[in-house]
Amino acid sequence: MSIHTTVGQDPDSNDVVILLEQQHEEIRRRMERVLAVDGKERRKAFHALVHLLAVHETAEEEVVHPFARRSLPGGEQVVEDRLAEERAAKETLSALDDLDPDDSTFMPQLMKLRKDVQAHARAEERYEFTHIRRSGDSAALAAMAKAVKAAEAMAPTRPHPGVESGTANMMLGPVAALMDRTKDAVRKAMSKDG
Ligand SMILES: [Fe+2]
Ligand SMILES: [Fe+2]
Repeated sequence: MSIHTTVGQDPDSNDVVILLEQQHEEIRRRMERVLAVDGKERRKAFHALVHLLAVHETAEEEVVHPFARRSLPGGEQVVEDRLAEERAAKETLSALDDLDPDDSTFMPQLMKLRKDVQAHARAEERYEFTHIRRSGDSAALAAMAKAVKAAEAMAPTRPHPGVESGTANMMLGPVAALMDRTKDAVRKAMSKDG
C-alpha cells in the first residue's frame, strides 16, 4: 500500500499543497515508528525521520515560504513565524541526533520534537497552505510541486555514522550537513527548471 493512501490523495499531484500535506502525514507516521521500536530499529527509524524532515523543511524554505512571503497578505510575518518554529525544531533534531536512541533523555526530547513539529505543521496548513491554494495560481502551484518532488528525489541519503567525518560536515554537525546538501539539491532542481 502506498504511503500516500493515508491521506487519500494522488501522489503524482501537481498541487504543492497536497504534496506538502502528504509529507506532513508521512512525518507523523515516521515519528510514531521511532516511538514504537527500540535499539537498532529505533536508530534506523530516526534516520528515516531526519531524512524526510530535511527534505520537507528545505523544500519549504527554498520554494514555498518565499512564494508565501511574496504572495500572501501578511505573508512576511506568517513566514517569519514558521521559520522560527523550523529553527527550534532543527535545534531539537540536532540535539537528538547527538544522543544514542536508547539514552534515557532521547524519548523526552523526541516527544518535545513531535509536539513542536505537529504544532508547526498545523500552523503551516492553517496560516500558509490554505492561502497558497486560494491564491489560485495553478502554474505557480505546479512549479512548486515539481521542485518539492525533485527535492525528494535528489536529496542525499545520510551516510552511516562515522562516514561523515569530513571536516566541513563535522563542523556543521550531521543534521545541518544533511540539510545543507538537500538545499543544494533543491536549488539545482529549481535552476534546471529554468
Ligand atoms: Fe515547515
Ligand atoms: Fe511543513
